[in-house]
Amino acid sequence: MSRLLLVVLASLPVLAFGAAVTCRYGDRTLRPGQSHVFEQNCARHNCTCSPGVAGSDMCKSTMIGCRESSGGRCYKAGEAATVTGASGPMHCVCQQESGGSFTFANCRTETCRDSRTGEAKKKGQQVTTVSGGVTYICTCAGVDGFQNCRTDEAVRNEGRCLDAASGSYVEVGAPATTERDGAVLHCTCGGTNAYGSCRSPLCRDVSGSDKKAGEKVTVENGGVMFVCDCAGLEGYRNCLSKEQFDNAGKCKDIEGRYVDRGQRYRVRYGGVRYECTCDGDNRGKECSAL
Ligand SMILES: *[C@@H]1O[C@H](CO)[C@@H](O)[C@H](O)[C@H]1NC(C)=O
Repeated sequence: MSRLLLVVLASLPVLAFGAAVTCRYGDRTLRPGQSHVFEQNCARHNCTCSPGVAGSDMCKSTMIGCRESSGGRCYKAGEAATVTGASGPMHCVCQQESGGSFTFANCRTETCRDSRTGEAKKKGQQVTTVSGGVTYICTCAGVDGFQNCRTDEAVRNEGRCLDAASGSYVEVGAPATTERDGAVLHCTCGGTNAYGSCRSPLCRDVSGSDKKAGEKVTVENGGVMFVCDCAGLEGYRNCLSKEQFDNAGKCKDIEGRYVDRGQRYRVRYGGVRYECTCDGDNRGKECSAL
């Protein structure tokens, strides 16, 4: 406040006592009782010409914003400002207190403190921080804190893949397991946690349930249902269309109907129609041309 008063005193009226009593503010001449209102140094000053009253007592001053001491700029309430604090530049917001005064609030440093070296890092620089006991290597984002944080361990193992099964990192080209949608997949490391050629030890059934190796699994492929043996990491084996599977041991006749073993059915072979006895799995016997 002392600084403010000094400036006001400097622009004080020259009180002229005599026949015509007037007050002067720069090039303005006021008669007693007249006021001069002006804004200076983040305050509004209302100076009333009052003969006999000396100095700053003539003026009433009210703050109108936050004053940044180094730049001398005045910030209105709600306005963001860069303020020079003891530890360097800070990002603050000018705030009006309930009493009417103005202060810089919500100040955050524009730099990041490196937890390892204690050094202040600028926005965009690499910085180390500790959170929950884990050391992270991040990019300093200034007032926004830390960005692109990766664990110290992840940075040291750049270019490699974390193998979920062993919890250790493996080189490019080596087998690496990873978890996806709750399932463990067996993949090949393709660099920095990139997993390629992934296979699952489980087979996914059309019903949504997982089947283990050796179990029957129904899958859809190209709009056709197939029944296969789940071969685990090898995929699917011995696939039959669902129709073939459901009609195993039967014979399909010319009209597309299935007949049981031992029954007579019609079949076309080499352009000639025959009637045969179904001997199982579309094999006929005792055939006679029709
Ligand atoms: C300045 O102060 C005088 C005397 O107190 C008052 O009459 C006048 O309204 C004030 N002017 C402003 C703009 O506040």
